[in-house]
Amino acid sequence: MNPAGWMFSGLARQRRASGAESCFLPVAGVKRMRGSAFGILLLIVGGLAVPPCFATASSRPNALTLWPPMGWNDWAHYQCGYTAQTILENARELVSTGLASRGYKIVTIDDCWMLRTRDSDGNLQPDPERFPRGMKPVIQAVHALGLKFGIYEDAGSATCGRFAGSGEPDKGGKAHFIEDARLFASWGVDYLKLDGCNVHAGKGESQEAAYRAAYRAESEALQRVGRPIIFSESAPAYFQDTPDWYDVLTWVREYGQLWREGTDIAVFDAQRPDAPRFHSVMWNYAYNLPLGRFQSPGNWNDADFIIGGDSGLTLAETRSQLALWSMMSAPLILSSDLRRVSPAAIAILGNRAVLSVDQDPLGRMATLIRRTPFFDVLLKQLDGGNDAVAVLNRGKKPLHIELDAGDLGYARANCGFAARNLWSGAREDKTSILEAEIASHDTAIWKIRPAAGCGAPAPLGAITRIASGRHRDAESYTLCLSSTGHVEACSGSKAESWSVSAAGELRSSKQCLTDAGGKMLMQTCTSAVPQLWRYTLAGNLINRGDHLCLTGSESKGVTAEACGHNLKSQIWSLPNARVAQ
Ligand code: GAL
Repeated sequence: MNPAGWMFSGLARQRRASGAESCFLPVAGVKRMRGSAFGILLLIVGGLAVPPCFATASSRPNALTLWPPMGWNDWAHYQCGYTAQTILENARELVSTGLASRGYKIVTIDDCWMLRTRDSDGNLQPDPERFPRGMKPVIQAVHALGLKFGIYEDAGSATCGRFAGSGEPDKGGKAHFIEDARLFASWGVDYLKLDGCNVHAGKGESQEAAYRAAYRAESEALQRVGRPIIFSESAPAYFQDTPDWYDVLTWVREYGQLWREGTDIAVFDAQRPDAPRFHSVMWNYAYNLPLGRFQSPGNWNDADFIIGGDSGLTLAETRSQLALWSMMSAPLILSSDLRRVSPAAIAILGNRAVLSVDQDPLGRMATLIRRTPFFDVLLKQLDGGNDAVAVLNRGKKPLHIELDAGDLGYARANCGFAARNLWSGAREDKTSILEAEIASHDTAIWKIRPAAGCGAPAPLGAITRIASGRHRDAESYTLCLSSTGHVEACSGSKAESWSVSAAGELRSSKQCLTDAGGKMLMQTCTSAVPQLWRYTLAGNLINRGDHLCLTGSESKGVTAEACGHNLKSQIWSLPNARVAQ
């Protein structure tokens, strides 16, 4: 048990070296588990790939999801405009471009594959116009290419396109989770994306309880069909912008391996083929980045499809999407017409060095080190003591950036690092500065290996909360906590730079955030309880002294108040923080 309730990466690294990293388990009453890298190996060899950390009693182990899933899905390019041939052509393209050998292996058919009604025996029926020979031969052909096959269904009475759903019929009656799961297993399905349209709560039941019951039922059905099927849950996306969002994000990992938390990424529109789509990439990045505490190897936040390489995104924007998704350890599910993606874009999407950042075994979310109106600096801790650093230029003009060890949370004196620019491949064996010229909407990304003199990095970065109202862009979605006593549009100022101590102090400019009876002051750090904060999975910062929650109001400034149910003003995202109990 970590008495302070905090587990930061610096500490986690040391624990890993001794093979005894302890894990947080979200379900009350379930015993904590211990694990190590060695543990992962043993379990995979034994055919039972249980992720060593964050496995819950009911989360279903699956060797394929110890790393974020990678593949292709038709939706963002074709929506319902596809046939079996479209799917197979794209599957072949994955192989011939070399993308499959780089990890993009799961080919998923999205909505519209079936008829609106079931047959007289209650079975789902593939649309005979799209799949004249049924579904099985398509799946066999995908498998013959050395790929995995995924399918789409819905937890409600009908899919979002109003085709037959697996959930309870509108007017009551029996759900079809087990029958459909059996059918999928008999076809050889490896991955199920279960959407959440048309889920209806029963009398006196909350929406959240209705979703939970449906996703639990699917999870139980999948466990009974004798075939490992990766379970991708869309439930959280139906609660975005509500307090229940955080509750749903807490239970989804008991049932599946990845989950969509929010709005769809912009789809290709054949009527407006060149319509820009980068704003949508920025929005999905914005809402995914603050949710790192919910993911860990085996369970992934899904920021939605990679549309890089398709119309509406430039090469610079394609680099940004892949780099940002990789910094977030997000699933990489391409959704474009691969036959038309340029060789230059294929080279970006297949960049092994960047993909290795995504697939890093620690599965961390990047920390937002600094956000200004024009650029973001991110740092992601990697296995083996390396870090990845990325700088996104959101602005319209080129950006010249120079970062030294101190900017990344290391001691400035005596700290140098070996660095590799992952786009150009340029290496420097010893440098104290990362430097790049970054075009508008482009992202620079490096892997660095800090020298021994650097010591452990401080968990340094911005502390953010989600702004009130409905904002749909990276700039206004998050507010930064400032040591001036405000929450404000992030400016990148020194007052927005915090480090979080292992005991739970929030430090900025060498002073600690102190709860003086509900009033917040920056004072000399003494480790007294009014300066110690416990971080919860939902995202509250609870003061150890008076048990009030850190509250950042746009109008009233920063105070400590009674904790409410997942109030936006009380949910925080912290640098490198992981939650321990
Ligand atoms: C949405 C989902 C999309 C796609 C679509 C199909 O709810 O987010 O990714 O699956 O439904 O109708």
